[in-house]
Amino acid sequence: MSRTFLITGASKGIGLALAQRLKRDGHQVVGLARNASPDFPGVLLPVDLADTQATDDALKDLTGRFRFDGVVNNVGLVRPQRLGAVELPALEEVMRVNLHPALQTVQALLPGMTERRWGRIVNISSLTVLGSIERTAYAAAKAALVSFSRSWALELATTGITVNAVSPGPTETELFRANNPPGSDGERRYLAGVPMGRFGQPDEIAAAIAFLLSEEAGFITGQTLHVDGGASIGKAAF
Ligand SMILES: NC(=O)c1ccc[n+]([C@@H]2O[C@H](COP(=O)([O-])OP(=O)(O)OC[C@H]3O[C@@H](n4cnc5c(N)ncnc54)[C@H](OP(=O)(O)O)[C@@H]3O)[C@@H](O)[C@H]2O)c1
Repeated sequence: MSRTFLITGASKGIGLALAQRLKRDGHQVVGLARNASPDFPGVLLPVDLADTQATDDALKDLTGRFRFDGVVNNVGLVRPQRLGAVELPALEEVMRVNLHPALQTVQALLPGMTERRWGRIVNISSLTVLGSIERTAYAAAKAALVSFSRSWALELATTGITVNAVSPGPTETELFRANNPPGSDGERRYLAGVPMGRFGQPDEIAAAIAFLLSEEAGFITGQTLHVDGGASIGKAAF
């Protein structure tokens, strides 16, 4: 069955890989990002998701034009800072960009999904929730997305709508490379923490998200799926 999915942060990286995969599987995809992408296989609406009013306006426009079956809350902001240097405005900004659009999209899509008694919500978290240096704000925001998923899953358990989180490990995207350039300490540190000894590819994360959006995943809710080459288990003993 062909479904219609909304993806935030859809013009690059994991969001774009997911859009391309869903399209290949016969679904319709609608994306939100600040900039257009010639590679996006559907309607991509330009909006700054840090702007609450602009986001509400975009969602109002889109819910009038599409019958959404689900949303993937994928947009994220990192702002790495060591504990002594964490600035409150940066903390607030990271919280806002990671959390507010997730709540806004779900609130916008909920009436339609509830009425049709079918829906999928996937929130993109991060391996860093297990503890990570220079990620005070980001890891807290990503932990909140896991918490959102569990609370929403309970509230929606009898509605036909499932809510899950996907927690990627280090994945080779623009965001990851901006914070961990080739040859950097960050790259070395992340690589050392992945038992498989390599970074993930965006399409490997997209595959897990697509599964949680599928018909077959209908009995899975409130879960966090770690897609991280074993990084959340611990270090491989070699
Ligand atoms: N890559 C990793 O290693 C990794 C690991 C764990 C978790 N994650 C999480 O996975 C998600 C995707 O990350 P990624 O690595 O694929 O990132 P990415 O390659 O940098 O892509 C981010 C996407 O979000 C959009 N975006 C960023 N800020 C936006 C804003 N204010 N308003 C609208 N769109 C915005 C970007 O497009 P524009 O620039 O055009 O707006 C782009 O489409 C994020 O939540 C990230 O925290 C990533």
